[in-house]
Amino acid sequence: MNTVRLKLDETLRDGRWHERGLTIGERHLSIMLRQVQAGCWQAFVNACPHQGRRMDFAQDQFLVSPNGSLVCPAHGAEFRPDDGFCVTGPCRGASLQILHIEENPHDQSLILSGPPLTSPQG
Ligand code: FES
Repeated sequence: MNTVRLKLDETLRDGRWHERGLTIGERHLSIMLRQVQAGCWQAFVNACPHQGRRMDFAQDQFLVSPNGSLVCPAHGAEFRPDDGFCVTGPCRGASLQILHIEENPHDQSLILSGPPLTSPQG
């Protein structure tokens, strides 16, 4: 399983969802991430399981419902923020691809891992 490091800039610490691009081998992957509380992060691949569309509707902008669900800007599907499970919409029962994410306090980086980050070469 590959791990990818992402520089932790302070703009990521505001508790909102952010988009960042990762390069894995020759592949580019858009992810969304947020800081839930100090030292605790969540991250998903930035692609709706219905049609694979991005979840951000503008640069670094995501729709969030009043109850905190992530909302697909194309079709209104709602996803639980804790595990990415779709509770309503055309992809109900499917999930966003979750990434494991940890903060490394020693070098101000985030370390991401999970099957979506595996490069074709392994
Ligand atoms: S692309 Fe988001 S619900 Fe279809």
